[in-house]
Amino acid sequence: MRDFYSIAIDGPSGAGKSSQARAIAEKYGFIYVDTGAIYRTVGLAAFRRGIDRKDEAAVVAMLPELDIRMAYDENGAQCMYLNGEDVSKEIRMPEISICASDVSAHGKVRAYLLEMQRKLARENNVVMDGRDIGTVVLPDAELKIFLTASAEARARRRLLEHKSKGIEISFEEVLKDIQYRDQQDSSRDAAPLAQAEDAWLVDCSETDFDETFAALCALIEEKLNIPSEN
Ligand code: DC
Repeated sequence: MRDFYSIAIDGPSGAGKSSQARAIAEKYGFIYVDTGAIYRTVGLAAFRRGIDRKDEAAVVAMLPELDIRMAYDENGAQCMYLNGEDVSKEIRMPEISICASDVSAHGKVRAYLLEMQRKLARENNVVMDGRDIGTVVLPDAELKIFLTASAEARARRRLLEHKSKGIEISFEEVLKDIQYRDQQDSSRDAAPLAQAEDAWLVDCSETDFDETFAALCALIEEKLNIPSEN
């Protein structure tokens, strides 16, 4: 019997994993771990230092100089700190998405960040989202969900998100970015984006946030047999 529950949510960029995972964490009293934010922080560091992100050795050489920490603000939102600086906002810039995807393709970068993610799950009830949570990071998670949607549906949602933050970008650019990351995240050798054999597939192309959330909660309550806190 394990001390804590883990819920793994994997899927492509823009499927709504983080907003669903955050709402699940709040409803069931789990902590939410956004693992993409960790890769984004490494991507940002490489970007700032002008490091060739495709060069694994150069990216790996930088890692020991990075102090990457996570914290939660008063609203329960996950904040990322890079060498003491709060970079939570900057890591969401569209150009940093590409940097994150680039650095995350390196096996040694993934190995370096693995323990940090596993430790959080050993010490807390977690809902963790990413690309390889059910397959590599938490293969024993009590519940695995693969949340996906068509590239167009994901680009439409991402565009609205960017607009709400005042980020100027076109639909075509967002779609291109999503397609680039889908291709790279799924085809890399190191822990590619993949649905675990024992993951539940949820396609939210045609459902809105509330409908998707209801479907996920039904799965959680059925499979984990836990009551909601809220
Ligand atoms: O979830 P996100 O879009 O914030 O993730 C940014 C990038 O990080 C994404 O393109 C792929 C990578 N990533 C990964 O390889 N493994 C994870 N567990 C999470 C993210």
